[in-house]
Parts: sequence; C-alpha cells; structure tokens
Amino acid sequence: MASEAAPSATPALAELARRAATCTACGLAAGRTQVVFGVGDPDADLMFVGEGPGREEDLQGEPFVGRSGQLLDRLMGEELGIDRSRCYIANVVKCRPPENRDPLPAEIDACRPYLEAQLDLVRPVVVVTLGNFATKLLLGTDRGITSLRGAAYPFRDGSLVPTFHPAAALRGGGVVVAQLRADLVRAKALLGWSP
Ligand code: URA
Repeated sequence: MASEAAPSATPALAELARRAATCTACGLAAGRTQVVFGVGDPDADLMFVGEGPGREEDLQGEPFVGRSGQLLDRLMGEELGIDRSRCYIANVVKCRPPENRDPLPAEIDACRPYLEAQLDLVRPVVVVTLGNFATKLLLGTDRGITSLRGAAYPFRDGSLVPTFHPAAALRGGGVVVAQLRADLVRAKALLGWSP
C-alpha cells in the first residue's frame, strides 16, 4: 500500500499560535507587548530552539530578529545554505522576560506545553538547541552547553544538536562562532543535506 504523506502542520500550528496569543499561564504575560510564538516552515526538517524573546522580538512578534538573530541568519545561510523560511524557529518561553533576565523555572514549566506541541506538530528531523536553557530542557539534563556541544543526541524520532546561543557567540568572538558553525555543519550532515 502506498504510504500517505503526513498532513501539513500548518493549520494546527496556527490554531496553537492563536491560543498562545492570549496566554496568561505565567507572570511574563503582564510585561509582554505580544507573544512570540514561532516562525518558519511548519513542515520543516530542521528546528531551532532558543531561550526567549528579547526587546526586538517582543516588539516585532518574531523570534531572533535582533543582533543574535542576524548572526543566526548569517550562519544559517553560510553553513546550511538556507534562509529562515526553510526551518522553524521557536523559543523555550514565548514572552519576553523583563530586562532580558533568565526565564524562571515556573515560567519554563508554564510554557513547556507550547514547545512540546510545536515539536509534536513540526516533527523535525533535527533540533538545534541554542544555549543552555533549550538544551537542558529538551535533553533533561543539568549539564552545561560547553560540555554537551560537539555531539548529537537522540531526540524523539531524530537528533538534537546542542550549540551555543548566538548571543554567546557575539560576546565570545571567533572561537565561539567557529564552534557554532561546526555544530550547524553537524546538523546538516544529520539532515542528509549535501555538503
Ligand atoms: N534570544 C533568544 O533566545 N530568542 C530570541 O528569539 C531572541 C534572542
């Protein structure tokens, strides 16, 4: 029997985004301009998961549109040969923490069902986690990104590639950028995209 293609995640993701737009499950709701749900191809093989929206993201309603995002876009183009429309990008928390502080455990717990649902719907082959928060949450570990990166880990039906947050690469300079690049190359190989 011919196998049928999985239905597109587009309508279900759009419905989830509509529900998230009025979410008040944690205190971050009070300070947000808008919920930053996620962006990109709902049927992508590659998904990036960051930490949480910053000022620009809160204003524009899209993940990774500030300086970190510009670096991510550039490295995605240079190492993967794609732009952001070819992957899906989301964050651990969908609302901006005040003054860009770290998200609190209760905020991460409250927002987790949205991220899990995004993973259920997009069903990426490879998830690239950007920084400690996404990596620790999805791998269920307390180990830090510096010791975890440089390898791929089994995740759901595919793989998870942990790497530095682009903000850390902006702070850390060439060595960190080179490590981020190497991790993207690792993700590309796992996706079977030609080198
Ligand atoms: N940092 C993140 O973790 N996510 C964004 O969307 C922007 C900056």
